[in-house]
Amino acid sequence: ATTRHFKWEVEYIFWSPDCLEGVVMGINGHFPGPTIRAKAGDTIVVELHNKLHTEGVVIHWHGIRQLGTPWADGTASISQCAINPGDHFVYRFKVDKPGTYFYHGHLGMQRSAGLYGSLIVDVADGQREPFRYDGEFSLLLSDWWHQGVHEQEVGLSSSPFRWIGEAQSVLINGRGQYNCSLAAQFSNSSSSSTGQCEFTGREQCAPEILTVEPNKTYRLRIASSTSLQSLSLAIKNHAMVVVEADGNYVQPFSVDDMDIYSGDSYSVLFKTDQDPTMNYYISASVRGRKPNTTQALTILNYKPNSASDPPKLSPPVAPAWNDYAHSKAFTSKIFARVGSPAPPTSFDRRIVMLNTQNNIDGAYIKWAINNVSLILPPTPYLGAIKYKLKNVFDAANPPDDYDREYDVMNPPVNRNTTLGSGVYNIELGSTVDIILQNANALAANVSEIHPWHLHGHDFWVLGYGEGKFNEKEHERSLNFKNPPLRNTAVIFPYGWTALRFVADNPGVWAFHCHIEPHLHMGMGVVFALGVHRVGNIPREALACGVTAKMPMSNVTAT
Ligand code: C2O
Ligand code: CU
Repeated sequence: ATTRHFKWEVEYIFWSPDCLEGVVMGINGHFPGPTIRAKAGDTIVVELHNKLHTEGVVIHWHGIRQLGTPWADGTASISQCAINPGDHFVYRFKVDKPGTYFYHGHLGMQRSAGLYGSLIVDVADGQREPFRYDGEFSLLLSDWWHQGVHEQEVGLSSSPFRWIGEAQSVLINGRGQYNCSLAAQFSNSSSSSTGQCEFTGREQCAPEILTVEPNKTYRLRIASSTSLQSLSLAIKNHAMVVVEADGNYVQPFSVDDMDIYSGDSYSVLFKTDQDPTMNYYISASVRGRKPNTTQALTILNYKPNSASDPPKLSPPVAPAWNDYAHSKAFTSKIFARVGSPAPPTSFDRRIVMLNTQNNIDGAYIKWAINNVSLILPPTPYLGAIKYKLKNVFDAANPPDDYDREYDVMNPPVNRNTTLGSGVYNIELGSTVDIILQNANALAANVSEIHPWHLHGHDFWVLGYGEGKFNEKEHERSLNFKNPPLRNTAVIFPYGWTALRFVADNPGVWAFHCHIEPHLHMGMGVVFALGVHRVGNIPREALACGVTAKMPMSNVTAT
């Protein structure tokens, strides 16, 4: 195992992610940020310099559990203070498990601003993946708005509320095409027809082409850093065998298209066994919300064809946006690979979390969990709890359940919610079940998809169901045999999802909807566990709020 050092500068740069120029949050003058590539067991050291002029920044390493280093999790107000403009912070952590991960900003809506990149962990030297392949590619998926993120944030917290709307573009490795198409020859006259893109290949929005040799097996690593959109990925005429999800091996299964929610990562294998005299489209299309965004495309280029040979077959057609049966069918095929650790057979605590959309003061729109809409305190929880500081966040703990009489199929009768910053205190070493319960939003006949992501741990996905979870009926349907280990799991409209995890990583950890505007509107909770066991928090992580005022003797006396 080695230590890999990176020195990064975050700053706003002019960039043309979808061929239209805008401002993105770049790293070292580039968008997306650099790919980190390491081997399991390596230590990553990122010296992050904040070159933004007027705002703080942090970076979260999505899917990395931060075993023993909770202060390196990169969540503002939770694990650390935001890094001030002109200042820097050193993230030092171990990547213990091979897999496909990514990193992103975790302050306000800095992920939507373009602060993200790939993080890929290969197996340790002398180890082998449980499948073979001849080459690999990595696709980091995201969505892009022409409206700046600050305007989006203001709109979301204004009254009347201004929703951000659907993305203008879906990006593959930070590249999309807004005003031209890679498949103009197939666009029918009924849709707003855009002309064929003319690229030299050097443009910031030129697609990253996947060049392959015939009759080989390739690994495609896919991660979604989208702000909002759920995507369907497909390669024309090529089946994909899913082998990894969120850094955990899964029982291989074959699909023609797959749903990818924000926060998900996957590896798939595909064979280049189709007619090698032509190229094929790879597409990422919006699902789960009425699409208003053109599908993102790139090209699978069979050697020795020219990469600029337009594919002869049309791009893949995604399943209907609201074909949830299709999404559920995909999700229900994901099982842990044989030999993976099984979950404990019983739980110590079960927390049922009702997801609702509500109002504050009758005017502002928020998301709430058991009628608490998360608002983050100015002093990060990790330091505040470790040093037993008072009045930093709400002392009251949020509820473990909701009133089961609540009608999840209809808009809330009592629309009001309250803001809260309380934490769930979880006993270190305990087994915790979480039932995520979806419900109707404020408008009638609306219930949305929410991909929930846990920091610091992986969880087992025990099952999904329709309507209201109820112990008597649904307990028996849960899968304890081979549930997949993941860090992100979706709740479907009007449905529930059951998760189990062993709370064994001391720290303070966010658990939230990965749709960034939803998190911004309060859709998350905070777990605190075994904080007394947390080692020396670097002083730079404590340089704000009440922790900044502590005598330094307190900080060193751990
Ligand atoms: Cu990738 Cu807390 O998120
Ligand atoms: Cu959500």
